[in-house]
Amino acid sequence: MAKKPASIVECREDAFRKIFKFYKRRTPPPDFSDVVDFSKSTTSDKVVPVKMDPDAVSDCDAARVGLLPTRDWRAFNLQGYPGFIFISNPFLRGSQAFWVRQCLKTYPQKPNVCNLDMHMSPTDTQDIWAKSVRNLSRPVGKREPKTLLERLRWVTLGYHYNWNSKTYSANHYTPFPTELRLLSHQIAAACGFPGFSAEAGILNYYRSDSSLGIHVDESELDHSRPLLSFSFGQSAIFLLGGTQRQDPPTAMYMHSGDLMVMSGQSRLLYHAVPRIVPAPQEVACSWVSDQQGGAGVEQQVSSEDWAVCSKYIHSSRINVTVRQVLGPGQSFPETPLPDGQQTEGKRRRCGYSPEHT
Ligand code: SIN
Repeated sequence: MAKKPASIVECREDAFRKIFKFYKRRTPPPDFSDVVDFSKSTTSDKVVPVKMDPDAVSDCDAARVGLLPTRDWRAFNLQGYPGFIFISNPFLRGSQAFWVRQCLKTYPQKPNVCNLDMHMSPTDTQDIWAKSVRNLSRPVGKREPKTLLERLRWVTLGYHYNWNSKTYSANHYTPFPTELRLLSHQIAAACGFPGFSAEAGILNYYRSDSSLGIHVDESELDHSRPLLSFSFGQSAIFLLGGTQRQDPPTAMYMHSGDLMVMSGQSRLLYHAVPRIVPAPQEVACSWVSDQQGGAGVEQQVSSEDWAVCSKYIHSSRINVTVRQVLGPGQSFPETPLPDGQQTEGKRRRCGYSPEHT
């Protein structure tokens, strides 16, 4: 019989890594019965429903970014993780299409930075979408080499994260996308963080065989501000641990449209994505609107664009994390620390952008 994650952690030495490997394993497939599923009504006794502040965001402002009225959100805390909030798909039916289109067509565009810039010229990575769509419409077997969109692994926004120094800096900044700033502002406000300012974003693009290593997001200089995480497309097993690698993590599904807010004592916890899993049928159905007309954000997505986006997310997952880097009145340290020393904002990560097996 397949072992359950609780029984594989015999000693507390790097319990996180053991559970990460358990969920990453292909043969035999792991037992998923301990994975918390916030989309189900019968869920674990660790899950505590929580009400959002109904006055923080008007219904009209929420609808403008494709969100349901905050009183209709299904939000939860998780026992043992103060400051962690999970919001089970608060998007209006059909409006995820807009955000998926932004992540695939708009955000990879210059001046934003992506993994392809590391070994290609700016002209070659100039318009990833336009360079990919024609080829993407062909049957899979006839598409060699892979399109740029299929080779996209990460994009950074706002203060661009420097993977080598593991820091952000004042001189590598481009304007943060307005509509994503607005969406983040509203979610943070509903969760009790009215002054949140979206300053940096990291988009991760996952294939069905991708995983994201165990890490803590600590490069931001102000940890009193929450970290917001949005997911679209295929589902993921997300592991949320403690402040030590010995703390066994809790496994949960992150489905398309789900949001996580890591704040307070949960802001600096170890976390990872060991596995991508197929989106349940009912989740995939909510990507398209069953209403004709309307004035929602989904109306901004042409049927040609949606054809490409929907094909992409039927086999892939996109995650967007949004961070406030600086507190009010705070600025970056003027002098970099000497070589070899790590800055206050270092990242403890064994794998930052998704790895593929
Ligand atoms: C995720 O993909 O859900 C997590 C992304 C991250 O931790 O940066």
